[in-house]
Amino acid sequence: MQDWMKLAGIRSSDITDEAVFRQRRTLLQAAAAAGMTGAIATDSFAMTEKLSMDVAETQYKAEGEITSEETATSYNNFYELGTDKGDPLKNAKFLKTDPWSVTVDGECDAPGTFTLEDILKPHAIEERVYRLRCVEAWSMVIPWNGFPLADLLKRFKPNSKAKYVAFETVSSQKLPGMRSRVLDWPYREGLRIDEAMHPLSFMAIGMYGNVIPNQNGAPMRLVLPWKYGFKSIKSIVKISFTEEQPQTSWNMSAPHEYGFFSNVNPNVSHPRWSQAKERKLVGDAGGLSALFASKTETAYLNGYAEEVGNLYADMDLKKFF
Ligand code: MTE
Repeated sequence: MQDWMKLAGIRSSDITDEAVFRQRRTLLQAAAAAGMTGAIATDSFAMTEKLSMDVAETQYKAEGEITSEETATSYNNFYELGTDKGDPLKNAKFLKTDPWSVTVDGECDAPGTFTLEDILKPHAIEERVYRLRCVEAWSMVIPWNGFPLADLLKRFKPNSKAKYVAFETVSSQKLPGMRSRVLDWPYREGLRIDEAMHPLSFMAIGMYGNVIPNQNGAPMRLVLPWKYGFKSIKSIVKISFTEEQPQTSWNMSAPHEYGFFSNVNPNVSHPRWSQAKERKLVGDAGGLSALFASKTETAYLNGYAEEVGNLYADMDLKKFF
């Protein structure tokens, strides 16, 4: 058991023996291959590492069917663990999250390197059901467990020059997907400080009441529900307060396709496809092939315009995409 789990209130009795869990997973995959999903799948996920802390419910609840945990944890984008949707689950074991530390630097009065325990200790954990819309035009509805990003950032006392916040994913470990040059590692993301401090911005350490699995960005990742999914950077090891707009991985790799803001916007197409509609990932993936619902309209700011629309009120969104 990792120490931070104790801090987060997770009891070791809540953690399934890994061998049992793996065995169940194998069973599940075998069942999926045979076209038998359902009872076994549900049972398998009841066996994951429960967050037994009091998780407070909040007003953040998305409408619509919740994506199954099975799907959300087996159909992933985490290029450090491979580019196929099933690779992150398959390669999850290569990501080592204990020990874990996060370095905070740049324009702030309380920088430093903090253990995961230091980071998590003062935060009460809440559950937020958020829609997440991927730039590839699929979406999910997921109950996340974590705390507001602003509560964390304020602890480092950003100064008046801190106009942006930059984030980096772990790159010191030789993860299998990093042999490919598909992106320039480490994976980088950034937000304007007002976006980062907005109450919707969330740091997740769990999902579905379970400790966040490696393939979903353990031990902590951002969730920014009004932006395309790639802004929600996983497995964070560095946070920097900057005066200049930081570089971001997808913008560096294809600047005409992926802007810095990357707000969900059905009126601004990706150069190679429309963003007007999406397919929701719903039922049991039954292994690695996900089930998609029929297409629905995508909402401006992914339906969060009332909350965050004012952040972009005076901007030309075709230019600042
Ligand atoms: N973070 C890192 N470090 N590496 C990645 O490849 N993929 C992004 C984002 N965060 C990615 C990442 C993309 S494209 C999406 S859609 C979301 O993670 C997917 O999160 P999920 O797998 O938990 O659904």
